[in-house]
Amino acid sequence: MKDDNDRRIKVTAETDAANSSSSKQYLIDLAQSVLKTNDKGSFTIPAQGLYPHQWLWDSCFISIGISHYDIERAKLEILSLLRGQWTNGMLPHVILNPNPRDEQGHKLRNINMWQSWRSPNSPEDVTTSGITQPPMIAEAVIRIGQLLKWPERRSWYKMVYPALINYHQWLYNERDPHKEGLVMQIHPWETGLDNTPPWMYELHTHLLPGWIRFLKSTGLHRIFGLFRSDTRYVPREQRETNIEELASYSIARRFRRKNYDFDKIIDHSLFAIEDLTFNSIFIRANNHLRTIANSIREKIPPELSEAMGKTEKAYDQLFDPYASEYFSRDFVTHRLLKESSVAALMPLYAGSISQERAETIVRLLENEHRFGPAYPVPSAPLDSPLFNPKRYWQGPTWINMNWLIIDGLRRYGFNDHAEALKDSTIEMVETAGGFFEYFDPLNGEGAGTDNFSWSAALIIDLLS
Ligand code: GLC
Repeated sequence: MKDDNDRRIKVTAETDAANSSSSKQYLIDLAQSVLKTNDKGSFTIPAQGLYPHQWLWDSCFISIGISHYDIERAKLEILSLLRGQWTNGMLPHVILNPNPRDEQGHKLRNINMWQSWRSPNSPEDVTTSGITQPPMIAEAVIRIGQLLKWPERRSWYKMVYPALINYHQWLYNERDPHKEGLVMQIHPWETGLDNTPPWMYELHTHLLPGWIRFLKSTGLHRIFGLFRSDTRYVPREQRETNIEELASYSIARRFRRKNYDFDKIIDHSLFAIEDLTFNSIFIRANNHLRTIANSIREKIPPELSEAMGKTEKAYDQLFDPYASEYFSRDFVTHRLLKESSVAALMPLYAGSISQERAETIVRLLENEHRFGPAYPVPSAPLDSPLFNPKRYWQGPTWINMNWLIIDGLRRYGFNDHAEALKDSTIEMVETAGGFFEYFDPLNGEGAGTDNFSWSAALIIDLLS
């Protein structure tokens, strides 16, 4: 598939000048074939081998791409996420595929580290993880809705509205216990940006559990490296380090030991961070929820509506006037975590900041020493001590983040910036010769796994 893609996408780049509309269609067709390969009937896996299950925000992005050519299948992608919803309202970040297979069709060992059944809140007939991911679902619901005529749109909204309300209620009830307006995340995987600089800086500087520090100092963590399955698919230097991966697994195991009882978890939680990307997406999602409720003449429950009202104001506290940048914040101490990442651009997507602040943020994008290399937007700024152009969320450019930023730029009227970012994103896929998981921001080379579903889906959306 990779060789095939390499060849075919190069053809696209060459034909570009001659006939841009047919080369556009060519790229769309290729993207659709990636999605078809990863289609499991009612849900789409992010990629063969490395990601054989269903992921929450992946499926949201995927459904947005699919909606342009098969609206019923796009709806199904969202509905299949809802089968994983816990009775307390949580949408889990992964729904396990009972029958995972590799590219050759061989059965993969289904290592179920989550054992969600330990929680009385988990669903009966599917196994899921015990944490969530950024709340992109309201955006996906709206995007699908916009393509439907009124009576169908109404029934679509009515069908999913209760689940969305339950999810947002859960986010406030469990993750904003002091009713301050922002929601906390307790595991790096909840941010979707697994090894993002602010979280990893916290981990390495003062959160590493004693036994992992011991493994680190003795070099024994290398033994764990031998058992990692992700590095069978992707070069080690493009993934999280052993230490970061060990810490992530050990936190998840602790949640499992506590049977996902949040009160017990939060008591000694390693991480409790009000993540900037997560809360930016949440603000936007709250607005979408209002739109959906209005259009089907539903009233958002008063307690939820009151909580939603606080969020935008609280969000402003994430702005640091000294650095002129937004940051994530420690839940307990309210200390801003001033390690910069692509999250700094997310307030554009949130849409709740002033035009003046939006201009400040756009300047970050224009700065070629920070977020403006040849193939923006890097997941860590070029001047970050953690920057590495090929390492996962510590440098590479990701298509989903670009898509969110393009949307934000447009809403603040930066149409030229939005167009330029859209063009460089498409060009990046052509340069790399495939729908890679992420891309080197300096030269556009593909990294991570190939034939990655949300890269394909969002290119379809950008081209449509
Ligand atoms: C990685 C990414 C995460 C994504 C998952 C499946 O863990 O960091 O954002 O959801 O892969 O694609």
